[in-house]
Amino acid sequence: MKLAVIGGGGREHAIIKKLKECKRVEYIYALPGNGGISEDATCVDIGAKELDEIVEFAVEKKIDYVVVAPDDPLVLGLVDMLEGKGIPCFGPDKAAAIIEGSKAFSKDLMKKYNIPTAEYEVFNDMDKALEYLESCKIPVVIKADGLALGKGVIIAETKEEAINAVKMMMAEKKFGNSGNTVVIEEFLIGPEVSVLSFTDGNVVIPMVSSMDHKRALDGDKGLNTGGMGTIAPNPFYTKKIADYCMDKIFVPTMEAMKAEGRTFKGCLYFGLMITDNGVKVIEYNARFGDPETQVVLPLLKGDLLDIMEATTNGTLKDVDFTFEDKHACCVVVASGGYPVEYKKGYEVSFPDDKSRIFVAGTKLINGKQVTSGGRVLGVTEIGNTLKEAIEKSYETVKKVNFTDSFYRKDIGRRGMK
Ligand code: AMP
Ligand code: GLY
Repeated sequence: MKLAVIGGGGREHAIIKKLKECKRVEYIYALPGNGGISEDATCVDIGAKELDEIVEFAVEKKIDYVVVAPDDPLVLGLVDMLEGKGIPCFGPDKAAAIIEGSKAFSKDLMKKYNIPTAEYEVFNDMDKALEYLESCKIPVVIKADGLALGKGVIIAETKEEAINAVKMMMAEKKFGNSGNTVVIEEFLIGPEVSVLSFTDGNVVIPMVSSMDHKRALDGDKGLNTGGMGTIAPNPFYTKKIADYCMDKIFVPTMEAMKAEGRTFKGCLYFGLMITDNGVKVIEYNARFGDPETQVVLPLLKGDLLDIMEATTNGTLKDVDFTFEDKHACCVVVASGGYPVEYKKGYEVSFPDDKSRIFVAGTKLINGKQVTSGGRVLGVTEIGNTLKEAIEKSYETVKKVNFTDSFYRKDIGRRGMK
């Protein structure tokens, strides 16, 4: 089969490496891919948001199956457009991708179907939002309704910060139309868990749990980033919690989407927080997480293409797959200054074995990999224990070199306690 994978980050690289192991896969295009991905697939210079160009390419090349990995094209309806041309896809259609595309939608869905989440109110009117803030406990969480490159969530530690956040979103339009509506939400405390799942709308099968590290610096200090590292499984996610989540969160969410006429097919991502008052949903994503995918897929024992196609066809219950009873750790290596300002164009040197190096931001120039993004790559290793996985990852990280590189030294440390 001839596949196209949409996107060009570390997540897409991990998906492509796993797809290459599948027996029926003959050829993979990546749109747009990146320098590292070009060693595993044929990269085509079409961006993930250039929907018409993607469809034209898929038709012309007679692509058999398209994997839509990033949020934007899902929320914009790429799956609907491709399926309209008879090309099956992995990922939800536009009606279902709204579960990530609108936080107001997802919060209202959880309220309507009794799925545990933080208390909240939705506002379309700035004056009403500001008035509501007067009665809120601090800290309080302000969220732009729409996609905002992962930057649309502000945890306000003072009333003044909360007021400024609302004004920044609703009056200054910092996130464009994504901030026309805001969600104001109760601040929760507790360890966070990411659970990615496969679903075909009939069954939902959780993958191994994971833990993201979103802040730039050790000790969870510094600015929020796209993710500086991950471990799987997440040690806070016990069997008891997993059973509760299956019963009260995963199945009810799948059923709720179906009841709303928005059957979700693809990877449904549950961002959870384990609070003293139980597990709550912090967010849904309509796709694989990045860099969660870089620890989850290396532990998958099964044919990823078979699984993906089964989510599209509604036959997921017939596919056998499991996850290795081992631990994985991914350490992200970034460019100095990320996530604010950083330089590009430095040559990257790699260890000989690149099988578990997932490249997020390089370009191939004259046969050399040079940095082209803030997060440059992730190094994943697997071990029999979490400690072993962490140690192996940091050993391999030492073999990656480029000017001004940096990485967190404490990925997974909280999970060791
Ligand atoms: P989101 O994009 O909704 O996942 O939010 C990004 C991050 O903000 C989450 O991973 C949490 O660390 C944090 N966050 C979001 N909502 C809350 C909340 N209600 N209480 C505490 N932290 C939150
Ligand atoms: N790692 C968080 C996300 O993919 O949204």
